[in-house]
Amino acid sequence: MMELMHDHLPIQLTSLAQRYGSIYRLKCGNTTMVVLNSGELIREALVKKWSDFAGRPISYTGDIVSGGGQNISLGDYTEKWRAHRRLVHGALQRCCQQSLHGVIERQALHLREVLMGYHSSPVDLSEDFTVAASNVITTLAFGKEYDKSSLELQQLHSCLNEIVSLWGSSWISALDSFPLLRKFPNPVFARLLKEVARRDEIIKQHLDDYKLQGHKSEGSITGFLLQALDKHENSKEGKLLTDVHVHMATVDLLIGGTETLAAWLSWTVAFLLHRPEIQTKVYEELCTVPEGRYPKYSDRQRLPVLSALVNEVLRLRPVAPLAVPHRAIRNSSIAGFFIPKNAVIIPNLFGAHHDPAVWSEPYSFKPERFLEGGGGSTRALVPFGGGARLCLGESVAKMELFLFTAYLLRDFQFILPDSDVFPPDLRGIATVVLKIKPYKVIAHPRPPSGL
Ligand code: HEM
Repeated sequence: MMELMHDHLPIQLTSLAQRYGSIYRLKCGNTTMVVLNSGELIREALVKKWSDFAGRPISYTGDIVSGGGQNISLGDYTEKWRAHRRLVHGALQRCCQQSLHGVIERQALHLREVLMGYHSSPVDLSEDFTVAASNVITTLAFGKEYDKSSLELQQLHSCLNEIVSLWGSSWISALDSFPLLRKFPNPVFARLLKEVARRDEIIKQHLDDYKLQGHKSEGSITGFLLQALDKHENSKEGKLLTDVHVHMATVDLLIGGTETLAAWLSWTVAFLLHRPEIQTKVYEELCTVPEGRYPKYSDRQRLPVLSALVNEVLRLRPVAPLAVPHRAIRNSSIAGFFIPKNAVIIPNLFGAHHDPAVWSEPYSFKPERFLEGGGGSTRALVPFGGGARLCLGESVAKMELFLFTAYLLRDFQFILPDSDVFPPDLRGIATVVLKIKPYKVIAHPRPPSGL
């Protein structure tokens, strides 16, 4: 059996595709896993045949982190799950229309102040990116934002990070494959249980505070969700969903929306350190925005170089490289191959984005491939998955990627701490999220006269 928790699992799975083809099967204990390594196969399973493959594998440890499968990302495809996702999707859409742009702009400006405060000294920015991403979600969810030194924020992050990394560890996944092990003491599992309890305590406190304020933070996701539950109290939907679903949706958004975005920003800066001339091109393009103002999301058509950069980093480092595993709800087929009910489907998004049949020089960082005549098509990208399980935060993420990058590159030039320092190692570490190894960079303020 191959080591499924390997640091470079997406790369390993992609290289197996060169030997066995873009669809192959792996056995893990009693489970059959089918790995899909091309955009075409991933779209066939997730989009065209979505109703066959919208399930999630049911696992002992997954149940523990998801409050018994009551969250969106790990919950199986049931009527209750559909009602839950619909409710949260609706709340997120309303919130996005009303306040998302302003919330991101505010956090981008706050991040600018933090970076200015480093006065061009070499720093690891990953924590600042995490705080910015997390503040977007906590503002959307509760109308609440933190600064880096906030104890509450640090507790929330340390516990969510611990849960994601403990849950990804082989000590924990072994409990799913070998039930007998559950009878023995397992210190890692004990820690996971403790962190899940801590997470639930923190989120419950937030929701209790929110209710005590009498829904004062109008326009927040929590407000929309609670109102919707009140309104549907007597409907079928209202009977299916409870406060637990509001609680678990908050966990979903925080986990789904924090490390992904922060990791992506760190990747972007790292790639730009490898090709500084791209940074200059984006900056020059940003200088064309009228009256020296910051760009709006609606300006993206007139900023093709910036958009190409966003797409190329999404292609090379899809931050959820293997998406979240799907489960076949019934017997079905992919590319003519029989797929039995309960098979676990792994969409290798990283593999699809490095498919030599679709991308020229697939391992090279070339944003210009997405410019006119460059040969790259955004339609071949699948960084957010697709179909019934499409990333719930896709529109939030796209606006964040664009605006945070625009604000950062308009105000700063990112440079290496020293001329003899190598640019960051681009291989990364893949657990659930594909992250870059820590590195230091100088965020050098651009002269205001440049605009
Ligand atoms: C699921 C990618 C940001 C919330 C997913 C999936 C992917 C993904 C690949 C799995 C889809 C599947 O199972 O087929 C990304 C990327 C992001 C990002 C690349 C940013 C660069 C966000 C944000 C949020 C979010 C900002 C919240 C506001 C979720 C949720 C799910 C999910 C709740 C579970 C959906 C379900 O199971 O139905 N994301 N995501 N994500 N994402 Fe994102």
